Amino acid sequence: MFEMMFQTVARAFPVSSISPVSRCVSFGVRRFCEKNPTKLRVSEALLGAEVGEDVRVQGWVRSYRPQKNNIFLHVNDGSSLKSLQVVAPAGKSDPLLSFGCAVEVKGILKKSPHFKQPVELEAKQIQVIGECNPVDFPFKIKERHSLEYIRQFPHLRCRTNAFSSLLRIRSEATAAIHSYFKSNGFLQIHTPTITSNDCEGAGELFQVEPPGTTFAEVGSFFSVPVYLTVSGQLHLEVMSGAFPRVYTFGPTFRAENSQSRRHLAEFFMVEAEISFTESIEDLTKVMEDLFRSVTDSVLAHCEEDVDLFHKYVAPGHRDTVDDALKKSFPVITYTEAIDVLKRSSEHFTFPTDWGCDLMTEHEKYLVKHCGNIPVFITDYPYDLKPFYARDNQDHPKRTAAAVDLLVPGVGELCGGSLREERLSLLRSRLQECGLEETYSWYLDLRRFGSVPHGGFGLGFERYLQCILGVDNIKDVIPFPRFSNSCLL
Ligand code: 4AD
Ligand code: MG
Repeated sequence: MFEMMFQTVARAFPVSSISPVSRCVSFGVRRFCEKNPTKLRVSEALLGAEVGEDVRVQGWVRSYRPQKNNIFLHVNDGSSLKSLQVVAPAGKSDPLLSFGCAVEVKGILKKSPHFKQPVELEAKQIQVIGECNPVDFPFKIKERHSLEYIRQFPHLRCRTNAFSSLLRIRSEATAAIHSYFKSNGFLQIHTPTITSNDCEGAGELFQVEPPGTTFAEVGSFFSVPVYLTVSGQLHLEVMSGAFPRVYTFGPTFRAENSQSRRHLAEFFMVEAEISFTESIEDLTKVMEDLFRSVTDSVLAHCEEDVDLFHKYVAPGHRDTVDDALKKSFPVITYTEAIDVLKRSSEHFTFPTDWGCDLMTEHEKYLVKHCGNIPVFITDYPYDLKPFYARDNQDHPKRTAAAVDLLVPGVGELCGGSLREERLSLLRSRLQECGLEETYSWYLDLRRFGSVPHGGFGLGFERYLQCILGVDNIKDVIPFPRFSNSCLL
């Protein structure tokens, strides 16, 4: 037992000027004779409820200032943007203590004499748990590194203030999305990552095969070609035949050979599917409510983290977010949007004729035109939309009941539609596309208890770009995957 304890301690405190024997003994004595100091997260310590008490904090040194009599450290453990100031007598400092190293600090939590922090930790003991050579460490003390710079170090960038703020916001937004759906009666469905369908029909698929085989070979793992999912929509449509409100939120893959600031090969998509719809407003209402509810929650729970972005990354962006939350989102048809683009004096690189897809430049212009707030564009040309979009059966310009939500700075955030629930219309469209056999199971959904339904997908990273004002999508995902990238 004693031997086991010694090994644990030796592993936990690998770097120290104290000998292993004294370490072991002092641990044993403290453990059995003294009250073990309460272990606090930095965010808990900063609340100040334990002022006057012996506490223990673990984290990474974000700043290190040795002075004549004292050394000052800021220790951060990712629990908040703010770090905890630690003060220790200069003489007792460990030579391995440096910017970036991992430490455990024991001491008394005190009210701080400085207005900048409510409390500070008067250290009795600072133990370097993991050293860090500040010369080799790519981030430098007191330097504000750009998002572009820190992006070069995907394995280390969580140690910076900006990226740790981003990760807390991402986590909060994720929780808020689940909370929105839960409180609005949606059932979460875990849609598959491996699938045989190309829901969007755009051919941007990553094929999945065991190494050295192809699907045609005898004994291949799957009997049909399979891919990483481009959308969970069709699987949600299956479930919406029994549950009127379903959603999924997970990784989504597109083999888009794009180096753009808003495309990734792997991104996260939130998708919802609603049955018994009466009009496209049933979808726009959920899209708008979801955007508002998640944004309210992020602004309320991650105030400091969001402020960091609105202060240093995209100054002035907070006004854009507030405007979006104050006003209701306008709705215009694709046909009206084309009229707006045609009347504008702006020079566009891509054509703005009826029937052409809206490009990012068009989307950004339309958002500005509508007051720089999110705007819904509805009723796109039928031929631009995938086989599942509901035919509006209008003439002479044939449109589908599809809707995109365009947002400031990003362009398209959500894409959705009412689905073609009428068996005969869906069958003839699938026949036209040569897909009737492939999607016979999908036609079954229209044979057995079909109801009007629809849904949408929201790009989670684009959402974060939109609320934070981050220009490049690679800066809002923990580990970006894009063409020509080196993967971690
Ligand atoms: O417009 P998309 O392609 O719609 C669908 O996939 C529908 N099946 C969703 C549905 O109705 N259930 O994709 C939805 C959203 C886009 O609006 C965009 O925000 C995001 O997903 N997105 C991407 N985000 C990052 N990188 C990419 N390569 C993306 N492609 C789409
Ligand atoms: Mg789209």
